[in-house]
Amino acid sequence: MRRLIIAGNWKMNGDLADAEVLTTMVKNGVANLSGLEMVICPPSLFLFPLSEIIGKNLKHISLGSQNIYHEDKGAFTGEISGAMIKKICRYTIIGHSERREYFGEDSEDVSDKTKAAIRNKIIPIICVGEKKKTAESYKDAAKELKRDLKGVDKSDYAKLVVSYEPVWAIGTGRAATPEYAAKAITLIREVVGLKTPVLYGGSVDAENIAGFTRRAEIDGALVGGASLKAKEFIKICENAVKSKSFA
Ligand code: PGA
Repeated sequence: MRRLIIAGNWKMNGDLADAEVLTTMVKNGVANLSGLEMVICPPSLFLFPLSEIIGKNLKHISLGSQNIYHEDKGAFTGEISGAMIKKICRYTIIGHSERREYFGEDSEDVSDKTKAAIRNKIIPIICVGEKKKTAESYKDAAKELKRDLKGVDKSDYAKLVVSYEPVWAIGTGRAATPEYAAKAITLIREVVGLKTPVLYGGSVDAENIAGFTRRAEIDGALVGGASLKAKEFIKICENAVKSKSFA
């Protein structure tokens, strides 16, 4: 179901004390916002302690992992499975460009991990995006997604979230324009259909968020650096809510 989602990807930052403070601050900061689903994706080590802070009863705040392995259990040293986190994570990020770049993940991995997430009733946030910017490069994300979804049942597409993340915009302070992102997302919707929420990610901040979420094509954002600053992340959520109408 389409809805406004703002997810924060903390990547490999902070210690447990930082994570607890940040989670408490953003939880309190968005308590009065309606029509928003906020997702915090901390390092896996912090998921269980943070789940105590978030509690079980909140519908509008949830946890996501930054990755899962495609098997549920077994001799896979160092890995964490969907089965292990499903009680506390509503979401998991799959196929982030950093996983693809530094850990050699390819479309087959993304497909297998997506299936593992769905099997464990965790919503995958599949990240796709082109490495370099050219006038036509926005077309590549939908092609990548098609490869990533090979073997994933079409009837499961409505259970996914996709995040369009042009790699050239991640961590660079040079976000895509909302028009450019909307063009890529329109093609992504031709792959996954109209029911799947599609986010934008790449140098999102409190100033530029509304430009994205104001557009009917864009259902929210996956935020990296700016999600580590409580005030900025809360402001992103507030501005997104103000700009959005799903009516
Ligand atoms: P950024 O990261 O907001 O720091 O550009 C986005 C992401 O990696 O998802």
